[in-house]
Amino acid sequence: MLDIKQYTTNQKDVSMQKFKKQLAAAVSEAVCKTAGDNVCGADEICAMLEYPPDPTMGDIALPCFRFAKLLRKAPPAIAAALAEDATIKSVDGVGSVNVSGGYLNFRISDGYYEKNVIPEILEKGDGYGRSDIGKGKTVVLDYSSPNVAKPFHIGHLGTTVIGHSLKKLHEFCGYNCVGINHLGDWGTQFGKLIVAYRKWGSEKEVEKDGIDGLVALYVRFHEEADKDPSLNDLARAEFTKLEHHDPDNIKLWKWFIELSLAEYKKTYDQLGITFDSYNGESFYTDKMPEQVEKLRSMGLLKLDDGASVVDLSEYNMPVCLILKRDGSTLYPTRDIAAAVYRKRTYNFDKCIYVTSSQQSLHFAQWFKVVELMGYDWYDELVHVPYGTVSIDGVKLSTRHGNVVLLRDVFEAAIEKVTKVIDEKNPGLENKKETAEAVGVGAIVFYYLMNNRIKDISFRMDDALSFDGNTGPYVQYTYARTCSLLEKSGEIRGDRIKITSPYEAELAKELSRFSETVLRAVAEYEPSVITRYILAVSTAFNRFYHECPILSAEDEDVRNTRTALTKATNTVLHSALPLICLKTPEKI
Ligand code: ARG
Repeated sequence: MLDIKQYTTNQKDVSMQKFKKQLAAAVSEAVCKTAGDNVCGADEICAMLEYPPDPTMGDIALPCFRFAKLLRKAPPAIAAALAEDATIKSVDGVGSVNVSGGYLNFRISDGYYEKNVIPEILEKGDGYGRSDIGKGKTVVLDYSSPNVAKPFHIGHLGTTVIGHSLKKLHEFCGYNCVGINHLGDWGTQFGKLIVAYRKWGSEKEVEKDGIDGLVALYVRFHEEADKDPSLNDLARAEFTKLEHHDPDNIKLWKWFIELSLAEYKKTYDQLGITFDSYNGESFYTDKMPEQVEKLRSMGLLKLDDGASVVDLSEYNMPVCLILKRDGSTLYPTRDIAAAVYRKRTYNFDKCIYVTSSQQSLHFAQWFKVVELMGYDWYDELVHVPYGTVSIDGVKLSTRHGNVVLLRDVFEAAIEKVTKVIDEKNPGLENKKETAEAVGVGAIVFYYLMNNRIKDISFRMDDALSFDGNTGPYVQYTYARTCSLLEKSGEIRGDRIKITSPYEAELAKELSRFSETVLRAVAEYEPSVITRYILAVSTAFNRFYHECPILSAEDEDVRNTRTALTKATNTVLHSALPLICLKTPEKI
């Protein structure tokens, strides 16, 4: 028989998880008593526990359908019997148990929040919600990765913020993380740019216009090449010269990258994003021959119309291109070489790639090639795809044709927020900084509210509302906790007494933080956190409107409410940066 104490006391985890584990152990014991030793383990039962869709039914539900076979009884009868089980009823935190059809619904006692949840958050502070499941493990994340000298448009929002969010989430769980910006800094587009720059560009202009100047040259090249295709040959020749380290071309190429990076970094700063490495595609130039040789010597390369490819028909995929007819390398070749380099350099346990789902086939193909090459870590490569983004409801700069630049979207959002602040809080200090944090945060929050794989259409007005389920709303909630705490006295963790259901609801949300983080990591899904932040904010605002906090007369009641405000502040302060949101203390 399972020893409940042993199972639960060596768990370091907290709050809701601890409660669920203890409950699961007790249910397991009850089931095993009748059906036989070890027929249904606590872990299995823990995974069955659900949150009832309607909270008036209870805080946690156990569906009993799976026990029907084991116990040879109908689920409602099983639920009724378990509801009477003394061990289950005596689990710390079980307030009441009731049966509804085949479900057993538990209400968590207020005492559980008073003794466990709230004091724990106060005590752990910034450490609350963290776990160490990643201790000793390394995760490499490849994200953002724009193509140099091409516009950084709204489509890049996904890879940039999902990637950074996954990095933050993994760090929160104790993983050692390496964020890589795999810049698209190599390829024939540089030949085109070099030709265009020498023909129509000037140093002064490009220096002044930065990436816009480069994009204009790139666009001009395509217009002219439509009329005069021989320009394409010139471009190829310049790229070949670059490949052979022609000093003039190398100098231009480096300059183009510098100008582009300067622009990207402005956007990254606004998002609070940094990278550990900017090794782009060009970095792997001298690392590809070894992999191409390996492919060749293993007999994996086939000639296909002059190109060298790996046949993947056995796996129902088109061929993976390794070398063009002229022997030059391709996107997959660089990815294969980069993966091997990263394995050797970082010895990752997982290497995550965040790109649009349009690249899913590309990743499936070269992951397969890595497997065929005999690298036994092929299954540590993870592609995290996301859907497309379109935008409507706002007039954005048409300077760039039909491409919507991320920069312009951010600017429009910041402008709107500035207007709101000017109206509502004209005396605010750090107005510029705050408007940027709220404006950019609004876009990111709106985007990360949806499951990543869904295609989304942006409505700027919805994103920027202070009332709806938005970034401004949750940031404002955080700021509200800050201003309350500024005026509050000392908080005592040993004098918590819950007296209102709104307090209990809020405590319940706060207790779910750590399991929510674990779920977001397991599913590579930042939206799990976004929705959690909304749930916490909603619970807090309800509590705020229903329960006087600083003006509560009873000292313990006031202390409890202030403690809940502090706990909310702690959770939001940790959670907002997990989805790239800043936490201004005043708005
Ligand atoms: N530069 C590519 C693009 O903009 C994305 C690169 C993703 N990372 C990778 N290792 N392939 O489409």
